[in-house]
Amino acid sequence: MSANPTAKGRHTAATIRAAKGGTPLVSLTAYTTPMARWADPHCDVVLVGDSVGMVIHGLPSTLGVTMEMMILHAQAVERGLERALMVVDMPFGSYEESPAQAFRNAARIMAETGAGAVKLEGGTAMAPTIGFLTARGIPVMAHIGLTPQSVHAFGGYGVQGRGEAAARVLEDAGAVAEAGAFSVVLEKIPESLARTVTGAVPIPTIGIGASPACDGQVLVTDDMLGVFGAFQPKFVKRYAALGQDAEAAIATYAEEVRARRFPGPEHVFADTAPEKRP
Ligand code: KIV
Repeated sequence: MSANPTAKGRHTAATIRAAKGGTPLVSLTAYTTPMARWADPHCDVVLVGDSVGMVIHGLPSTLGVTMEMMILHAQAVERGLERALMVVDMPFGSYEESPAQAFRNAARIMAETGAGAVKLEGGTAMAPTIGFLTARGIPVMAHIGLTPQSVHAFGGYGVQGRGEAAARVLEDAGAVAEAGAFSVVLEKIPESLARTVTGAVPIPTIGIGASPACDGQVLVTDDMLGVFGAFQPKFVKRYAALGQDAEAAIATYAEEVRARRFPGPEHVFADTAPEKRP
């Protein structure tokens, strides 16, 4: 395992923060109890990402995700976790207005879901908010580089931090670390920049499309299992093809029902219960 949990066996923001520079941290997303149960023994951090809006609810971007959606999914995920730290994404519009708005919504997420931390997108501009939350007992994971909630400002989901834009990402990383974030997600930035950022900040960097130069990695589980097929970013490795398997299974079921091969005799109840063995 990458990081040492507390004596009670659960990861916290502090145990994750302490894993800087050690064995790479492992993180995946989860939106349901079963997914959380599968991830928990293997992951240090389980993220209830706002990617849930696209992956589970079929939204075109993460912008339509609500507090209610995040809370409902996070409650389900927490029921499946024993060991990993649960981090919950703050949805678009729930934290940008002011530190007080961010605190109100982050406190609600923590109180209603049992989350150990929240994640929010943004660098320098969000540093005062990160400081406000951490000073009031809410651990914050920052997210910089490509921040999908700003898709319209970026004009798409392209690589960030190339050329002169690298300085901005480095500045963002420094600002969120200084403000008190316990870790920072680096999304879709070049390897050389990820290495520079990782060397420059005292908190773990968790990469998604940001090379092995980070202190850890995160992926959307549905992407790496081949469940979510809408698009396949270059940085995703497919470890399974569950979407294909599910579709094939459903096709077989439909064919068997139409041909009256399912249900078979083994799935049918008799008029009388079979005698119980002594
Ligand atoms: O919403 C999400 O799933 C994320 C990551 C994958 C980092 O923010």
